[in-house]
Amino acid sequence: MKVPEYVAGLKPYVSGKPIEELEREYGITGAIKLASNENPIGPSPKAVEAIMSVLGNLHRYPDAANHRLGTRLAAKLQVSVDQIVIGNGSNEIIELLVRTFLREGDEVIMPDPSFLMYEILVQAGGGRPVKVALKERVIDLEGMARSVTPKTRMIFVNNPNNPTGTIVSKDDFESFLQEVPPEVIVVMDEAYIEFVRDKTCPIGLDYLGGEKIVVSLRTFSKTYGLAGLRIGYGLMDAAVADLMHRVRQPFNTNLLAQVGALAALDDEAFLKKTLALVHSGLDFLYGEVAKVGLRYFPTQTNFFLIDMERDASVVFEEMLRLGVIVRPMTAYGYPNYIRINVGLPEDNQRFIEALKQVV
Ligand SMILES: Cc1ncc(COP(=O)(O)O)c(C=O)c1O
Repeated sequence: MKVPEYVAGLKPYVSGKPIEELEREYGITGAIKLASNENPIGPSPKAVEAIMSVLGNLHRYPDAANHRLGTRLAAKLQVSVDQIVIGNGSNEIIELLVRTFLREGDEVIMPDPSFLMYEILVQAGGGRPVKVALKERVIDLEGMARSVTPKTRMIFVNNPNNPTGTIVSKDDFESFLQEVPPEVIVVMDEAYIEFVRDKTCPIGLDYLGGEKIVVSLRTFSKTYGLAGLRIGYGLMDAAVADLMHRVRQPFNTNLLAQVGALAALDDEAFLKKTLALVHSGLDFLYGEVAKVGLRYFPTQTNFFLIDMERDASVVFEEMLRLGVIVRPMTAYGYPNYIRINVGLPEDNQRFIEALKQVV
């Protein structure tokens, strides 16, 4: 078998452990998962209702243009429909960017640590990931601008950044943008943007149609509670979108995802409930973690890091035995940190009990 070296060298992505797997392996029931930054409330009820109503149409292919969701998004975000590419999760948009714009050996600059899929997808596409270390857990925009070479095709700015939950400021982002050559694509991954409370946060949408090529990535997986449907989108200049549409598969988003996302988009009540739950949950968790005497890092998202002051993979195992799934940050270069997302109030309480037991 002949495999490109860069494919053979790929490290598999390790996702958060599913609840069923833990319960099967450890013979326990009632486990909770705070490991994948999911929405603890569940899916938007409007999305569920819309999905139920189209189940009888599953014998049909979905609309290849995803016209209804595209036009609704365009109206809501005040962009043109030809500036939108909708994908099977925002993950697919990352993959499409790589497949559309990268040639073998091209460089892509990314923060480190950040969302692990950037590195994996760039390497899988034959590109060279250029990782720039965070500074005090914040993306080092100056460092990233300095890392640009003639081979640079793309720069990922994960704002807020997973796993640190930090943002870059609007001023810093705009200074950075000035330094970026006009042919380099700046990808602002805004998977958690709806959770942000800091008013200095830049919004990718504001930079479309400017002098530099900016792409904003959004998802229905977090605030809209639809991670299992797999649907997200990218906002960009129409010329960029046109190329990506040529590369993408026609039926890349399935029927249920299309109608579910469309209904969720207008479920303002659900969105409000989610944000209130996440923000009050964070305040509760910060207070309790501090009482336990551990250092934590405040976030602009629905997840945050806790310094366990010892091997996080051991803590992870100990918590699993207590039926609580957290994410050890070993693969992200923080061997002593765990990352948790906000759960329902009873999940948060249960996590704190487990935390007290393992400390
Ligand atoms: C920073 C970041 N970007 C993108 C994604 C992927 O989201 P999606 O479910 O839309 O593929 C995630 C998921 O955890 C994420 O943390």
